[in-house]
This record gives sequence, structure tokens and C-alpha cells, in this order.
Amino acid sequence: MATIFLSLVTIFSLINLHSSNALSVNYYHQTCPNAESTITKVVKKSMMNDRTVPAALLRMHFHDCFIKGCDASVLLNSQGNNQAEKDGPPNISLHAFYVIDNAKKEVEKMCPGVVSCADILALAAKDAVALSGGPSWDVPKGRKDGKISKANDTRQLPFPTFNISQLHQSFSQRGLSIDDLVALSGGHTLGFSHCSSFQNRIHNFNNITNVDPSMSPSFATSLRQVCPMHNKVKSAGANLDSSPTVFDNAYYKLLLQGKSIFSSDQALLTTSRTKALVTKFATSQQEFYHAFVESMIRMSSISGTGTEIRLNCGVVNH
Ligand code: HEM
Ligand SMILES: *[C@@H]1O[C@H](CO)[C@@H](O)[C@H](O)[C@H]1NC(C)=O
Ligand SMILES: *[C@@H]1O[C@H](CO)[C@@H](O)[C@H](O)[C@H]1NC(C)=O
Ligand SMILES: *[C@@H]1O[C@H](CO)[C@@H](O)[C@H](O)[C@H]1NC(C)=O
Ligand SMILES: *[C@@H]1O[C@H](CO)[C@@H](O)[C@H](O)[C@H]1NC(C)=O
Repeated sequence: MATIFLSLVTIFSLINLHSSNALSVNYYHQTCPNAESTITKVVKKSMMNDRTVPAALLRMHFHDCFIKGCDASVLLNSQGNNQAEKDGPPNISLHAFYVIDNAKKEVEKMCPGVVSCADILALAAKDAVALSGGPSWDVPKGRKDGKISKANDTRQLPFPTFNISQLHQSFSQRGLSIDDLVALSGGHTLGFSHCSSFQNRIHNFNNITNVDPSMSPSFATSLRQVCPMHNKVKSAGANLDSSPTVFDNAYYKLLLQGKSIFSSDQALLTTSRTKALVTKFATSQQEFYHAFVESMIRMSSISGTGTEIRLNCGVVNH
């Protein structure tokens, strides 16, 4: 009797695990044990040719998870009259899709139809951080790929002009806390921004001043030089911190000096709780790494409605 009861409990918990799409770090242990090392090799190789690859992969994963959960919707190509996320408004910073395609090809050779594109992207984002000198971690896996990607949905991403309450709302809608917000904003230790994303802070800030008064004046002057009011150079912009290919805590140090790029970064100094965390991470890189890993695992576990293992990351199956 007790045995029957126990096996019923086991069966129910398995069903439950399945329906809640629980992720696990050993997900491909039996079915594709070399998936992770293969993905790491591909990321490593591509970043040797292009130093901007890690930043691109990290942002791509964030973008994927914030729209319909982490279901690789960000990887789908526009088709027919459907404009995909890829081609939605803030797409200027999305690039390096070929890295995911190359990783997928290598993984498919070893274990066809087993590893989802959403998992490959989550693993590649972890590699991007670790290979840039940041922390590494075990990525929970078992995501499924979705079939829908709409350019219009990119409006659900937080805007760089957001204040702290708007950021808080955007994160909490996805089950992420204000502490996650501060730790994940540290992703801005990597990469680059185009002028348009911080234009609001350096020209016509409000009807009293042209420049955001919370920005360091010398920093504002240098940004205004690369991004004049009527900027014509499409590729112009600024690095997100002083060491844009190194995953360190410089972002937080600069933030405290008024040298962050976006209003959404600066907003982290506007409540005592978020400011205290910024100060903690600026003081201790270890504390930042620890918090970043925890928050990344939460962000990369936002569940989607994916149903398949896509064979080509740019198109749905069949
Ligand atoms: C808190 C809300 C966030 C806002 C408002 C925001 C906004 C932006 C914007 C506007 C850009 C530059 C786009 C461009 O002009 O090229 C950018 C770049 C970037 N973001 Fe964020 N972001 C946020 C959170 C995150 C998170 C959670 C991560 C990852 C953990 C992240 C990682 C990155 C990276 C790595 C880049 C550089 C991309 C590249 O160089 O290719 N961001 N972000
Ligand atoms: C961004 O979207 C435009 C169309 O809205 C498209 O022409 C362009 O290729 C896209 N850029 C990237 C990097 O996907
Ligand atoms: C586009 O996205 C916005 C904001 O998420 C939403 O309010 C609107 O209904 C969407 N429009 C279409 C045509 O889906
Ligand atoms: C943030 O912006 C929204 C929309 O403009 C506004 O309603 C809200 O009061 C602002 N919050 C803060 C803390 O400034
Ligand atoms: C500046 O703009 C605010 C609203 O953004 C308005 O209430 C105020 O009257 C304006 N001040 C001047 C001097 O125009």
C-alpha cells in the first residue's frame, strides 16, 4: 500500500515537472553530453574573429527571455508578411545570429533534433560572460522553441529612457525583482550603444537644461562630440563602459561617477535600495558576480510557450 502510494506520488510529481516545463542542469546528460562543450568552442572561435560577439549574445538572450519567455523567438526570421522580432524597432544592436546558427549546425551533427535553439542561446550567453572574464555557472536546460515572433512585440522591452518605477514594473511582470534589475543591468559592462539610445540625455533633456544634470559634465561633453544633435553617422555611439569586452564591475563604478550611458542605468541611483546594491557591486566584484549568476538563472528560466526543437534556428519546423 505504502509502495503504491509512493509510486503515485512519484508519477504525479513527474507529470507536474513535465507540465511546468521544469529545467534541469543535466537535461542533455544522456541525449547530448557534448552539447555544452561544442557550443563553447563555437563561441570561443567566433569571438576571436569579432570582439563584439559576447555582448551581442548576452543582449540577444535578454531580448529572447523578455519577449514570450526564453523560446528562441528572437532567432526567427521574418517570413511572408510577418515581421519578426529581429526586424522590430530596437534591432540595431542585435547581431551575431550566425554564431547561434554555427553552434546549432555542430550540435545537430552530434545529436540531431535534440537540443533546442533556446537552450543553445542560453548556453552561448553564459559562454559570452565566462569567456569575457566573468563568472561561469551551470545553465538549467530543457527549453522548447516557439513558433511565433512578431516585430511589434519588441515594444515590450524596457526602454533606455525608463525611470525606476517603469523598470521595476517591466521586471516584476516577468517574475524578476528590483535586485535582479540591479544585478542584470550589470550586463552593460559589455558592449556598445548607438547614439539614438541615449540622445534624450545629451540634447534637449528638458525645458530647463540640454544635458541630464545627473550626468558627469565632462562625460556629457564627450558623448555630445560623438553624437551631435543631428547625428548623421548611423554607426556612431559609445561603449557601455570603459572596458567593453571585459566582464567586470567597472559599469557600477562609472555609474556612481555619473558616467553611465542610459537613463535606465542612472535610474538605479534613484532609490536607496537600488543605490545600495550599486554601491555594493562597485565595491565588490565577487558580490556582483554572485548576484549576476543568480539573476541570470532566474531570467533565463522565464518560461515560454515553446513546443518544438527547431532544426534550423531561423525557421519553425516543417
Ligand atoms: C534594464 C533594462 C535594460 C534596458 C533599458 C536596456 C537597454 C539597452 C540599450 C538601449 C542598448 C543599446 C542598443 C543600441 O543602441 O545599440 C543595450 C545594449 C546592451 N544591453 Fe541592455 N538594457 C537593459 C537590460 C539588459 C540586460 C538585463 C542585459 C543582459 C543581462 C543587457 C545587456 C546588454 C548588452 C550586452 C548590450 C550591448 C549589446 C552590443 O554591444 O551588441 N541589457 N541595452
Ligand atoms: C532591422 O530591421 C530593419 C527593418 O525594420 C531591417 O531592414 C534590418 O535588416 C534589421 N537589422 C538587423 C540587424 O536585423
Ligand atoms: C503592438 O504592441 C503594443 C504594445 O505591446 C500593443 O499595445 C498593440 O496592440 C500591438 N499591436 C498589434 C497590431 O499587435
Ligand atoms: C516614471 O514615469 C512614469 C510615466 O511617465 C510616471 O507616471 C512615474 O511617476 C515616474 N516615476 C518616477 C519615480 O519618476
Ligand atoms: C517645463 O515643463 C514642465 C512639464 O514638463 C512644465 O510644467 C513647466 O511649466 C515648464 N516650464 C517652463 C519654464 O516652460
